[in-house]
Amino acid sequence: MNRRDALRNTMMWMAGSPLLRAQEVLGDTRDRFPAIDDLVNVFEFEPILKSKVPKNNYDFIAGGVDAEWTLRRNRESFDRITFRPRFMRDVSKMDLSTELFGQKISMPILVAPTAGHQLAHEQGELATARGAGQMKTIMAVSTNSSYSIDKIGAAATGPLWFQLYVGPDWDGTRDRVERAVGAGCKAVCITVDSAYGSHRERLLRNRSSAGPVAVPSPGGRRAAAPREPLPYKLQSQFTVHLTWSFLDEINKYAKVPVLVKGILTAEDAKLAVERGAAGIIVSNHGGRYLEYAPSTIEVLPEIVEAVGGKIPVLIDSGFRRGTDILKALAIGAKAVLVGRPPLWGLGAYGQAGVAKVLELLQHELALTMGLAGATNLAAIDRKLVKIDAR
Ligand SMILES: Cc1cc2nc3c(=O)[nH]c(=O)nc-3n(C[C@H](O)[C@H](O)[C@H](O)COP(=O)(O)O)c2cc1C
Repeated sequence: MNRRDALRNTMMWMAGSPLLRAQEVLGDTRDRFPAIDDLVNVFEFEPILKSKVPKNNYDFIAGGVDAEWTLRRNRESFDRITFRPRFMRDVSKMDLSTELFGQKISMPILVAPTAGHQLAHEQGELATARGAGQMKTIMAVSTNSSYSIDKIGAAATGPLWFQLYVGPDWDGTRDRVERAVGAGCKAVCITVDSAYGSHRERLLRNRSSAGPVAVPSPGGRRAAAPREPLPYKLQSQFTVHLTWSFLDEINKYAKVPVLVKGILTAEDAKLAVERGAAGIIVSNHGGRYLEYAPSTIEVLPEIVEAVGGKIPVLIDSGFRRGTDILKALAIGAKAVLVGRPPLWGLGAYGQAGVAKVLELLQHELALTMGLAGATNLAAIDRKLVKIDAR
């Protein structure tokens, strides 16, 4: 029995006591959550999700690798960047819409691929896809989704992309990509930053297996039950054999644009362009793999410069505010993906929560743009931000 269950039992026992039955002060208020429209920013969804799901599910969603230095760095790095706002520009009409690979979307904010949405809510990716569709933006579906890609494709009301973990064999990889494209996915993102399972210490402490090795199982089954801790040794993942030549191969059969997700240096960004990537996603996987990987916003300038406008540069990891998003757009990102916030919204309020989280980010971005003097994405440029040296 965990602490929460013990507390609940004690409260139920007390509530049943004749001494207290007449009093109304002991109601169990834990199921009384704020109305969704009372939440003022995306952070406020996290504690609601936390109170609704088992601890291990929450720790899987929230956690980073080791001591979570990169996880913290993702947030702290935004504080080094300030705006250089411009005024007197008639900002009465705001337009946040954009286009990615020919797909029109309402805002430069996408749902990042995250595993196992049933860890947050019974309706899992079905609800997330509808929430993203409601907000007219793209959801990237993880290889390790709780529901099958066919079911998610059937439920979706907006555009989907597919995130690919290669393997366990090359034929299986091709089947997976073709199935996703058949289910309607308009782009594939190959995740390249996770060759080995990392130590998510929150999960190890819970004595449950860490990381995507075991938590959600691919292809529509539910999360595995907690197991004994992993032995302290290298756990290779699907991507351990990956090299740049895989881009040549997948480009032959994918039939949709292929992006590389997890780029953190100018060198790899250049290679991605040379080897035929249609786009890159600057990402440190939300601080979940290489500890002491840099924050993504701090490496974005060198990557944008290396790519030189040849392909779109997208970014994720740590984005929680409209101001964060505008900073990335000003440095040259085409769009931003958010990983945990839609999961917080999903766990807290299902589809409506996913949509609300995206709506809050959209409103914050519009507000920041308006106050900084940009009425649309084309009006945003590098002069809008000042980056302090460390
Ligand atoms: C719970 C969780 C599961 C994730 N699963 C995957 C995954 O299956 N594939 C993948 O490429 N990235 C995965 N990611 C990383 C996200 O795609 C994204 O890079 C990251 O969440 C962005 O950081 P943020 O959560 O701070 O927004 C996952 C992240 C989280 C939080």
